[in-house]
Amino acid sequence: MASPSKRIIAVIGATGTQGGSVTWTFLSLPNWHVRCLTRNPASEAAQALASLGAEVVQADLGDLSSLSRAFSNANAIFLNTDFWTVFRPTMASGKNEVESGKLAYEAEVTNGKNAAIAAAGVSTLERLVYSALGPMEKASNGKFKTYHWAGKSSIVEYIENEQPELAKKSSIIYLGAYNTNPFVAPKRNPQTGEYGFVLPFSKETRFPIVDPIEATGPFVRALVEDEAPGTKLLAYNESSYLDFGSVVDIWTGVTGKNISFVQTTAEALHAMTGIPLEILLGGAYLGEFDYCAGVEGIIEPHQLKNKVQTKSFEQWLKEGGLKNMNI
Ligand SMILES: NC(=O)c1ccc[n+]([C@@H]2O[C@H](COP(=O)([O-])OP(=O)(O)OC[C@H]3O[C@@H](n4cnc5c(N)ncnc54)[C@H](OP(=O)(O)O)[C@@H]3O)[C@@H](O)[C@H]2O)c1
Repeated sequence: MASPSKRIIAVIGATGTQGGSVTWTFLSLPNWHVRCLTRNPASEAAQALASLGAEVVQADLGDLSSLSRAFSNANAIFLNTDFWTVFRPTMASGKNEVESGKLAYEAEVTNGKNAAIAAAGVSTLERLVYSALGPMEKASNGKFKTYHWAGKSSIVEYIENEQPELAKKSSIIYLGAYNTNPFVAPKRNPQTGEYGFVLPFSKETRFPIVDPIEATGPFVRALVEDEAPGTKLLAYNESSYLDFGSVVDIWTGVTGKNISFVQTTAEALHAMTGIPLEILLGGAYLGEFDYCAGVEGIIEPHQLKNKVQTKSFEQWLKEGGLKNMNI
């Protein structure tokens, strides 16, 4: 039960990476009560959140009535929709990647719309923060399309066009590539034993890199407490909007190894490794377009009213991140 003196934030995906970070940040603020939504309150991750002082409630993004209950009296909502929860098991069941992508896209968009419909009915709501990716297909004039980017930009469009009252209370966070994203970690060549990047873009390609565990919560707090609704933030760590030449140099410096870089195409890499085009085309897109191309009025971390303290990607690798990267 929330104390009447506290404001309530409802966190979707609280047992996951982004929502976990939002939960820890808001639990550390004395004026907030954190309500974590999960499909399974009995899970170890949900129980761990409860032991930290969060309220844990059962809700499923596929079930509108469960969301309406879970959002009751909320002042803020953090919404994350996950594409891969549906994509991975669908692929594993034997469907091809286009079929799997379509099914995961449809589920993600339905989930996002459900959350928006439920949020629109919450009279106490002051801020919804949705974690999205940019409008890849529109920004590239149809040249690139991946379902995991498309679902999130469809949800943003739905909020802006179909839920105008909710849109007035909403902000969007565009998290950069996670610091653990396979694109930003070199691989060992089993034949030569040497490390290098083989990627579907050039060394000039720029990636915003974020530590989603440390940084999502502080950036979301800024969007809830400091910034006006309607803010669109590209969130990345200090000094970590990097071209790939710099990423290679950082890895060389941190590991002391010679790290090579080879550019190829998404299709060639797919044929060589079996990594889904759904993932590789995201990289190829970034070789030609900015991460948040097509998002009007996007701001970057240095434009926030109050600075969010984050470590650079290099510092993160040096201070222990390297051990998580399997190299
Ligand atoms: N990797 C990157 O570089 C990168 C960069 C930017 C954005 N992203 C995006 O980040 C998203 C993943 O976020 P994450 O890393 O925080 O995910 P995560 O750690 O895998 O967690 C997924 C969360 O979603 C919740 N969830 C899944 N289905 C649900 C449903 N039907 N109803 C309610 N909750 C549900 C799960 O909660 P329960 O299991 O407890 O119900 C879990 O907490 C992806 O869509 C990805 O595209 C990734």
